[in-house]
This record gives sequence, C-alpha cells and structure tokens, in this order.
Amino acid sequence: MSTPHTTNNAGIPVESDEHSLTVGADGPILLQDHYLIEKMAQFNRERVPERVVHAKGSGAYGFFQVTNDVSEFTKADLFQPGKRTDMLARFSTVAGEQGSPDTWRDPRGFALKFYTEHGNYDLVGNNTPVFFVRDTIKFQDFIRSQKRRPDNGLRDHDMQWDFWTLSPESAHQVAWLMGDRGIPKSYRHMNGYGSHTYMWVNAGGEKFWIKYHFKTDQGIDHLTDDEAAELAGWNPDVHREDLWQAIDRGEPPSWTLYVQVMPFDDAPDYRFNPFDLTKVWPHGDYPLIEVGRMTLDRNPEDFFVHIEQAAFEPSSMVPGIGPSPDKMLLGRLFSYPDTHRYRIGPNYAQLPPNRPHVPVYSYAKDGPMRFEPNRTARPYAPNSYGGPAASPEAYGDITGWRTAGEMVREAYTLHREDDDFGQPGTMVRHVLDDEARARLVANVTGHLKDGVSRPVLDRALQYWRNIDKEIGDRIATNVNGG
Ligand code: NDP
Ligand code: HEM
Repeated sequence: MSTPHTTNNAGIPVESDEHSLTVGADGPILLQDHYLIEKMAQFNRERVPERVVHAKGSGAYGFFQVTNDVSEFTKADLFQPGKRTDMLARFSTVAGEQGSPDTWRDPRGFALKFYTEHGNYDLVGNNTPVFFVRDTIKFQDFIRSQKRRPDNGLRDHDMQWDFWTLSPESAHQVAWLMGDRGIPKSYRHMNGYGSHTYMWVNAGGEKFWIKYHFKTDQGIDHLTDDEAAELAGWNPDVHREDLWQAIDRGEPPSWTLYVQVMPFDDAPDYRFNPFDLTKVWPHGDYPLIEVGRMTLDRNPEDFFVHIEQAAFEPSSMVPGIGPSPDKMLLGRLFSYPDTHRYRIGPNYAQLPPNRPHVPVYSYAKDGPMRFEPNRTARPYAPNSYGGPAASPEAYGDITGWRTAGEMVREAYTLHREDDDFGQPGTMVRHVLDDEARARLVANVTGHLKDGVSRPVLDRALQYWRNIDKEIGDRIATNVNGG
C-alpha cells in the first residue's frame, strides 16, 4: 500500500513537513505559510482540561451478554434474556492527575456505558461498594482534602486524615482502602460495584431496589505497598499497559454481573438505611443473583477520541432503571453532564464514544462544535409539522417514590444499625484473615507516620479503635512506638 500524501486539515496536499516557508533559506518565516500556522495553532489547543477527579484512566470497548433471566425485576432492554449489548468501559484512579502512577493507593473508577436500544445507559461506579461520604454537599470538600494543598502544591496525609476523622461516615471506605483492595494488581483484577442503590422496574410496573456487583473473572489480586511503590517508579502506566496488552494479545478480560434485589417495601424497616452509600447490604440479607457477563475485547483506535472524550453520566438511565433516594446519587445526576459541558463542550454527546447507537430525536440545537444536523426543521415542541413527540408509553413508568416532609438539612438515619463503625468493624474482624489484617495495620501505620500531626493523629487512632479496638491498639503501638 502506498503512503498517503500529507494534507492539511482541509484535505489539501501539503508541500513539506520539514521546512517552513521563508524568504530565502535564512530568511524570515512568512505569514502565508498557513500550514505551519495551522500546525502551531492546533498544537496549542490539543488539550482539553483533565477530569477534575478520575483524571488518570484507561478504557476499552466490549459487550454485555445476559446469561440469566432477571426480567421479573426489570424491563430494561439490556437485561432481557439472551440480549447482547455493545459497551465502553473506563477504569481510573481518583485523586491523581493525568500523569500520576496507576499504582497509588486509591479507589478505582469503574465507569460503564451500554449502548442500548433505548439509548445510553451509564453505570458510573467504583471498585468499592461504599464511599467516603453520604451527602453530595461534602464531596467537593472530601476531594480537596485528597488532592494538593494550595500553598505548596503537595498532597498531604495530615489533610486527608483531618477530613476523614472529622467525617466518621468515611470509616467503612477508609478501612476498605487501607486493606488489600486499595491497590489492585491491575484493572483486570478488581471487582466493580454500582455502589449506590438503584431502582429497577419490571414490565408490570413493579419496583425493586437493587445493587450491582461486577465480579472479576480474572480473580481478585492486589499489590503490596512496596510492590506498588516500585512500579510507580519504573512504570507509572502499568495498569493502562496491562489492559491494552491483554486485549491486544487476545485475552479479553471479563466480569460477571450479579445484583442484590430488595423488595420495594423492605426499605423503610431494613436494619440499615438501604440508600446510605457508606453501607453495603450484607449478602446474607440479599444474596447475589447472576445477570450476565461483560467482556472487553476492543482497544480504542485513538485514546484521546475514545477515552479522554468519553463522558459518563449517572443521569443516563434507560426505561426499567431509575435512581434511589441516595443523596450522593441524586447530586451526581446533575454534576456529570455539567462537568462534560465545561470539559468537552455542550455537544459532547455527539462524539464517537458518547453517541447513542439509536437515532437521537432531541430538540437540542446549535452550540459549539455541533455536527449532527437537527432532524426536524421546526425545532420546538409541540408542533404540527411532524416533529418528535414525547411519549409516556415509550418511556414507561416514572421511576419515583412517595415522599413528604418538612424541608430540612439532616441525615436519614432512623434505621436500627445506622452507625458509622459497625460495617467496617465486621469487615476487619470477619472478612479479613490474619495476614490481611497485618497488612492493613502496616499500611495504616505507614500512612499515619508520613506527615500526620499530633492532634489529627490522636483522632485517627481513636477512629481505628472505634472500628475495632484491637486493630486500633495495634496501630497505636506501631505509630507511637516507632
Ligand atoms: P460476606 O462474608 O457475605 O461478604 C464479605 C464480602 O467481602 C466478600 O463477599 C467480598 O465481596 C468482600 N471481601 C473479601 N475480601 C475483602 C477484602 N480484603 N476487602 C474488602 N472486601 C473484601 O459478608 P457480608 O455481606 O455480611 O459483609 C460483611 C462485610 O464485608 C461488610 O460489612 C463489608 O465491609 C464487606 N463487604 C461486603 C460486601 C457486600 O456487598 N455485602 C461487598 C464487599 C465487602 P466481593 O465478592 O464483592 O468482593
Ligand atoms: C468522575 C463528580 C461521587 C465515580 C467524576 C467527575 C466529576 C464527579 C465532576 C469528572 C467527570 C468527567 O470530567 O468526565 C462526583 C460527585 C460525586 C461523585 C459530585 C458525589 C456527589 C462518585 C461516586 C462514584 C464516582 C460515589 C462511584 C460510586 C466516578 C467515576 C468517574 C467520576 C468512575 C470517572 C468517569 C470516567 O471514567 O470518565 N465524578 N462524583 N463518583 N466519578 Fe464521581
């Protein structure tokens, strides 16, 4: 195959990629060298802002195959028996910047976009079933405590523990983070969770509360602090490389999806607030039900186009799926489309990774970088010229719940076991084995010894004793003695 001629962005053949146009070989550069100017100007505009969180990530395309019949719980097209749906996944670290090492201790993002027959379904979860805070209004403060200090531009363990210990609801996620799962061996070796509770609605209009669990078929595996630190030095992109190479050599990673299903009317009297993002539903209460398998088998042909410009948004929910009263989820429904409009531009939904695989008949029009023409000459509703019309039948039931009450600013904690330390205590006592507990103690000790000042340190030791007295005492002995 012959090499194509270089063209400029307008498709016009260019004369040289070696020499600018000058008056004589040693003369000044001419303004009419518009190819040179195009090259410089384009380069100056190559970056879009990185994601404000989850900036460093990797992704791939694939498909979701239903393997079990869960149609009694949802009518969502992608979960119907036998269905196969194209999808995109992006995995990420949370606090680091674009160039940060893949192996820093951090939760991992687990963002999925399913191109369903009813439009895009985005499930934007993490590799952990819980989160640090339970109210959207605390998210920005939480993130700032994990990122860099404004004065010296450094990350700061003192700041992290200050926030965590003043926010005891963080204990479950912090205990999880400091354990083995805080540094997965690779993106292929971690689970994904929807984390929030979502609503499913079946064809008869019956509603259920559900939680998503994507279990890795590669097996859970982790890196120790030492292994992670060494990798961060010589291959900060090791997880990006691992995912790409596995797919490239024909070993597509896969995850089996399970859901926990809670009957709609169980919620008010459940022992925990079932919408609290700092809690799990114990498997003994609501066992896992298999749904299907997601497989990632296609690397992006252009990382920027398909992964950097990918815009996941929890607000994209298709018929048969809805939100729950989780205040974190409800805040996120606004936040993501808003940040996409800023980061990529208001027409981000038209870009290749974000474009639905079904026709779009929206009344949105114009704006920067719009390239899909409007499908109607009369851009308003209602109109009598054949423009699209909204359809309650096509959408289906409103995925809502009954609510009433005074306007307040307070947490919904009326359930019997709504304390902050119970579930992390169960985890460290009953889920971790002796070796995992020892690694947890060592990880926390190392973290606390790295720049945490005395008043915060004392609170941190009490925080761990609240999770588990013995673990807290062991950490205190290490920290105070060392
Ligand atoms: P189970 O014994 O049924 O489940 C414990 C679960 O913990 C496992 O299924 C596994 O979930 C997960 N797990 C195993 N090792 C680790 C680890 N090193 N770090 C973090 N999680 C691990 O008990 P319950 O369902 O009653 O839950 C007990 C505690 O386990 C909870 O309080 C919570 O802290 C933790 N947990 C519970 C989950 C849930 O959805 N119920 C999910 C994850 C953790 P998986 O197979 O999903 O990896
Ligand atoms: C990314 C906000 C909580 C998972 C982002 C981004 C914002 C954001 C602004 C950047 C998006 C982009 O630029 O493309 C919030 C807010 C939260 C919240 C306001 C709480 C109220 C959570 C939780 C989870 C989560 C609880 C998981 C359970 C993710 C993931 C990404 C992300 C996976 C990266 C998506 C991608 O790969 O493009 N979040 N977030 N976030 N968030 Fe959140």
